[in-house]
Amino acid sequence: MDETPWWRDAVVYEIYVRSFADASGDGTGDLAGIRGRLPYLADLGVDAIWLTPFYPSPMADGGYDVADYRDVDPVFGSLADFDDLVTDAHAHGLRLMVDIVPNHSSSAHPWFQKALAAPRGSQERDRYMFRDGRAPLGPGEAEGEPNNWLSTFGGPAWTRVPDGQWYLHLFAPEQPDFNWRNPEVREEFLDILRFWLDRGVDGFRIDVAMGLIKAEGLPDTGPGFRSASPMWSRPEVHDIYREWRRVLDSYPGTRVAIGEVWTDSAEDLARYVRPDELHQSFNFAWLEAPWSATAFRKVIDDTLRAVAAPTWVLSNHDVVRHRTRYGEGSLDPSAGLARARAALLGMLALPGSAYLYQGEELGLPEVTDLPPQARQDPVFKRSNGELPGRDGCRVPLPWSGTAPPYGFGDGGSWLPQPDDWAELTVERQAADTSSTLSFYRRALALRRDLRGTLPDAIEWVPAPGDALFFRRGRLTCAINCGEGPVRLPPHERVLLSSGPLDGVDLPADTAVWLTDR
Ligand code: NOJ
Repeated sequence: MDETPWWRDAVVYEIYVRSFADASGDGTGDLAGIRGRLPYLADLGVDAIWLTPFYPSPMADGGYDVADYRDVDPVFGSLADFDDLVTDAHAHGLRLMVDIVPNHSSSAHPWFQKALAAPRGSQERDRYMFRDGRAPLGPGEAEGEPNNWLSTFGGPAWTRVPDGQWYLHLFAPEQPDFNWRNPEVREEFLDILRFWLDRGVDGFRIDVAMGLIKAEGLPDTGPGFRSASPMWSRPEVHDIYREWRRVLDSYPGTRVAIGEVWTDSAEDLARYVRPDELHQSFNFAWLEAPWSATAFRKVIDDTLRAVAAPTWVLSNHDVVRHRTRYGEGSLDPSAGLARARAALLGMLALPGSAYLYQGEELGLPEVTDLPPQARQDPVFKRSNGELPGRDGCRVPLPWSGTAPPYGFGDGGSWLPQPDDWAELTVERQAADTSSTLSFYRRALALRRDLRGTLPDAIEWVPAPGDALFFRRGRLTCAINCGEGPVRLPPHERVLLSSGPLDGVDLPADTAVWLTDR
């Protein structure tokens, strides 16, 4: 019997709910839209789906500002739609994970509204991070923010309320941070976990998992980054996940949690996945690496040294799509897509589990020319348009037809889709065996065939130039990040290549899976 728990080598597909499929025809994706596309996901060959937040929200940050953790925003459907989706996903053999947002709520959350109405020092304020300002530095000077922390989205991390106190928000002002040293907050989230577990979810993706606990006394930040900062990865955050793990383990089946942990250290990452904590944490190291065999090799070595069951991810709803990232700096316009396909073979050949972001299976590029008035990301708004923000990777998917909204729904799409996406639709690519979609399907099917037959360790094989060769049991993966062709490593058979091979040579920007038998 195969004892490997499902999550250890699962391929999980991220659904950015607003942009996947719109059944209601209002221009925004919804739960019923996802339900209608479950056959597509099952055919694609993924094991699980992760849904980004669909809870009632004023949408100051695309739903990562939650006003009610136990309901569905009407724009996305209802709790009944959610229950139907869980049932149908399971019937299609797909596990379903939801996003939980514990670092902050929406400023519209009833707890925050009560905190605003309550006096300083009250129990209501203690659920969030209210503080008095710093004394004025000199005569005529205003009182300053309680410390020097900056919001991830730009500007100070503090906003002042009418009675003079300040509250902390590591993200937008509409996203006040909870006080995780308050037992009421801890109890509330245990209850929220149970609410969704009782509805049948298979797991949670934990937003800003490294941010919940702030250093005592909220000291100013120095030049340190991420793992060495008073905001991130404080030791006490791990007690929270030990509590969460006990709740997950008390449910039948295998219910899991993956933390969104941005860190500069694989050792820090490893602490989140100790046996009594989270099952997985996102490993963003590859996503942050350039197109380079040396860089990839370092990421793989550092990761496998620190984490027994790692995860791999190339794109998500917060970063420039990897097809576009990998194309930057190349004179060849086809390099980005060729490299993106090659990177997939690398990621899927490694031990651990892989997270895909909707649309990468279609080879979608980042949309860089969205009109300013269409952009919604707070990063764009708070930087007064200096930073483009993350809307370019959130453009609704093209499903069919030759003109926008390309079968996304009947009512347009909340972000405009490019006019030249007709070639990229699911309909078009499903009918073309050389398309990126067909390539993803083949790679995922092969990975399924190989599942359980490969060891957890890899061995490096000497490679020429800027190429990377590694063996995992009978599978060899070769990726050529250099500019010219390299000779393929020894093999019996080619299982799959990301682009055409040239006889015994592996062309630039191409990867291949080879086998001994
Ligand atoms: C990470 C989410 O992925 C991102 O979209 C969001 O803006 C921040 N966390 C804040 O919740």
